[in-house]
Amino acid sequence: MANKDLGPRHFLTLLDLSSVELRQVISRATELKQMIRDGEIYQPLLGMTLGMIFDKSSTRTRVSFETGMNQFGGAAIFLSPRDTQLGRGEPIEDAARVLSRMVDAIMIRTFDHAQLESFAAHSLVPVINGLTDLYHPCQLLADMQTYAEHRGEIGGKTVTWVGDGNNMCHSYINAARRFGFKLRIACPEGYDPDPEIVRAANGAAEIVRNPMDAAEGSHLVVTDVWASMGQEEEQAIRANAFADYQVTTKMMAQADPDALFMHCLPAHRGEEVEAAVIDAKDSVVWDEAGNRLHAQKALLEFLMTR
Ligand code: CP
Ligand code: NVA
Repeated sequence: MANKDLGPRHFLTLLDLSSVELRQVISRATELKQMIRDGEIYQPLLGMTLGMIFDKSSTRTRVSFETGMNQFGGAAIFLSPRDTQLGRGEPIEDAARVLSRMVDAIMIRTFDHAQLESFAAHSLVPVINGLTDLYHPCQLLADMQTYAEHRGEIGGKTVTWVGDGNNMCHSYINAARRFGFKLRIACPEGYDPDPEIVRAANGAAEIVRNPMDAAEGSHLVVTDVWASMGQEEEQAIRANAFADYQVTTKMMAQADPDALFMHCLPAHRGEEVEAAVIDAKDSVVWDEAGNRLHAQKALLEFLMTR
């Protein structure tokens, strides 16, 4: 357990928590979900506030954090650069010093991961990565919870990532390290994940260029949009590069008979995923999205009640 004197615990990547801590958070998420279903009122964050800085759009992340804080008896404040001094050039370090003297934790969704690290270095309270260009660790908490709820232990299984070597892919690589699964990454040349992040996984993640080969016998197939937020102008060129990297029914048939399909959403049916795949019974995308609420509540409890 962390000692408060050592400063706040942050969640900038999955590697900020140990395997044991991540597993605790995920099983706690399932407990918290059951408590809500049972109508149990549980307010460990009564009177506490989460500041949420969004430099990019969001549906799931915003609503899940805001609802989670409400259910826990606390409050969340939505901050956009359009309406705050952040959008007028106030240094991120100054914003961190100021905001962290008023709120009890801060979630940030931004572009440059280094900005998030800078903010965290100057914050007196826990900082949570709500997505950067490099990582999306909160989504992985929900994905790991969803796999566990549907299929049990993911350790020792094979997961296939199809598409861009992006923020989600990087977080899957970290998840492979922490949860002990094998990750096959099927991405077109030129769209590989950061080689340093792959190397650090020490063999837990490998590039398998052909998506049909990568899906062979896999227990979980995951994809994401071809053009992430901030890459909108590359949409056409990417659609061309990724044409052979759509998750199809045929590809899912290559996977294990019990394979699940996941997508962090929002999805583009007919681009990265065939409509029949996302709407099929082995697709758990709605549970995956819903679990954002429970997984992040477990994370907030972990970071804010220590
Ligand atoms: N998956 C995800 O983070 O969704 P939002 O962009 O809607 O928050
Ligand atoms: N890779 C996507 C994920 C959206 C939740 C993006 O960064 O836009």
